[in-house]
Parts: sequence; C-alpha cells; structure tokens
Amino acid sequence: MTYAVLGAAGQLGRDLCPRLAGDVVPLTRGQADLARPAELADTLGALRPDVVVNCAAYNFVDRAETEPEAAFAVNAWGVRALAITCRQLDCVLVHVSSDYVFGLEDNRRTPYAEGDAPGPVSIYGLSKLAGEYLVRALCPRHFVIRTCGLYGVWGSGGKGGNFVETMLDRARQGRALRVVADQVCTPTYTVDLAAALADLVATGRYGLYHLTNAGCCSWLGFAQAIFQLEGLRPDLSPVTSREYGAAARRPGYSVLAPTASTALGLPPLRPWQEALAAYLRERQAKK
Ligand SMILES: NC(=O)c1ccc[n+]([C@@H]2O[C@H](COP(=O)([O-])OP(=O)(O)OC[C@H]3O[C@@H](n4cnc5c(N)ncnc54)[C@H](OP(=O)(O)O)[C@@H]3O)[C@@H](O)[C@H]2O)c1
Repeated sequence: MTYAVLGAAGQLGRDLCPRLAGDVVPLTRGQADLARPAELADTLGALRPDVVVNCAAYNFVDRAETEPEAAFAVNAWGVRALAITCRQLDCVLVHVSSDYVFGLEDNRRTPYAEGDAPGPVSIYGLSKLAGEYLVRALCPRHFVIRTCGLYGVWGSGGKGGNFVETMLDRARQGRALRVVADQVCTPTYTVDLAAALADLVATGRYGLYHLTNAGCCSWLGFAQAIFQLEGLRPDLSPVTSREYGAAARRPGYSVLAPTASTALGLPPLRPWQEALAAYLRERQAKK
C-alpha cells in the first residue's frame, strides 16, 4: 500500500506519516499545493499512490472572514481538484474536515452524529463543508474525517503553535489570561487522531466519520486542566465569545459523536484529559 500525504509538514501530517502501514510519500505545500491543481494532478499522477490523505487546509479561521476567496480556493476548489484527480487515478481519498461545519443550532447540547445536518457559522466552516461535499460527490472511494481542537508537538504552522503551548507561554510570562468559557468541544491530540485515522482507513469502509478524543470541555476548562497538570496558577478568568470578540463566530457546542466508527467495532479514542497528560509528557521528553 502506498500513501501520499498532503500537508505532511503540519501538526497532524507529521504525526500521521509514521503511523500509516505501508510506503508513505510526505508532500509539503511546495510539492503539492491545493491552490495549483494542474501541478497537483501531475505530481499525484507520477506517484500513483493507492491512498491520498489530505491533511492540508487553509485554517486561518478569523482571517477567512475577510478573505473568503483564499479559504475557498484551498478548502473547496483545491479539494475539488484533488477529488477529481483521485477518482481519475482510482485511488482512495482520505480528507480531514472540522467540527466547524456545525454551530448553527444555538441550543444544541448533545453530541453531533455523522448523520446530523451541518450548519456552519463562519466562512472557514463553510469552506470546509464545501470541501466535504465535493469529496463525497466526486470521489466514490473516500473517507471524510471530521475532528476538533487539534494540538500536537509539531504545532500548527498556520496558527503558529497550538492552544496548549499558547497557554503555557503566557502563564510563564506572568500574563493575565482571558479564556472563552462558552464554547464546548473536544480538544484532540494529533497522535491519537493519527493512530485512529490509520486504523479506520485500514478497514476499507469508506464514508463520513467523526474522530476526536472522548468527552468534552470548554476552552476555559481545557486551560484549567493544562495548568493543573503543569502545577501552574496563572491569573485565569472566563470570558464569553462576545467579550473575546474574535472576527469569526465559533460553534457554542461542537462535540462530535464517533457513531460510524463505533458501528464498525473500532474503540473510542481515550478521554481528552488522558490525551492531554500524554501530550505534556511527550513535549517534556522532546525538550
Ligand atoms: N487545528 C485544529 O484545531 C483543527 C480542528 C479541526 C479540524 N482541523 C483540520 O485538520 C487538518 C489538519 O490541521 P492541522 O492542525 O494539522 O493544520 P496545520 O498544522 O496548520 O497544517 C496544515 C498544513 O497544510 C499546509 N497547507 C496550507 N495551504 C496549503 C495548500 N494550498 N496546499 C497544500 N498545503 C497547504 C500547510 O503548509 P504551510 O506550513 O506551508 O502553511 C500546513 O503544513 C486540516 O484539514 C484542518 O482543517 C484542524
């Protein structure tokens, strides 16, 4: 089995490549750019992989509000070109999507199953939903995998780090922290997602899946858990999304239920608290 992985230099891509069973060709943006569909088709045509995994995305959630064309160029039109190429090459496409395809249901407080109707509240979420639909419509042999709140030791290139590192840096600088308390989701460790994604793809059971660590918390709750595990006591206070004032709206609740993978008999990912503790150990070991 040969895999080509787009976005291989990102935080998920880096944790995924070593966990795929087979020959893996990691592709950075320079080698496979979703915004350059013709070159992308040539690159994949020369490689002829069995499976293409797309970990690449435009993921500037706030900036997308003022540059929707840039978000759609990568997350929708680039993904459309990728889906068409994969169908032409008769290879499987594994595409990573987001909990931000949800959010429109203001009063929602139960986890979303794969069959629930999406409703994004941001341009980024809309562009990711468009990408999902294009994969599902254009490439029959696909996995679309929605996940949430990623953090890994490689950090998100686009966002420059991850939430855990941002919290620890600011706390160690003695800065006061205001963290949003009215957005509930499931922070997910890229190592856990990578392993579960590799196991899911190995089943050959195509479709739409939710994969996150288990349980849920607000970003404030996540920050509190980080500081507790690290023995820090920063000046931490809750804010509402409105007070925080980000350019893009986020879902108030976007917990994803792994209904489809559970039906296949795959085990749930471990609880987010255990995953966070494992991440903190991994980052310590890497120092
Ligand atoms: N991060 C989260 O919290 C989160 C939550 C839910 C879902 N997701 C989804 O999970 C996937 C992986 O996210 P991540 O956190 O690993 O992101 P990441 O660390 O920012 O990695 C994304 C990668 O995509 C590359 N990229 C950007 N534009 C590209 C283009 N036009 N063509 C090819 N490559 C391009 C980036 O390359 P450069 O380094 O050159 O910019 C980067 O290496 C994405 O689909 C994202 O939407 C993420």
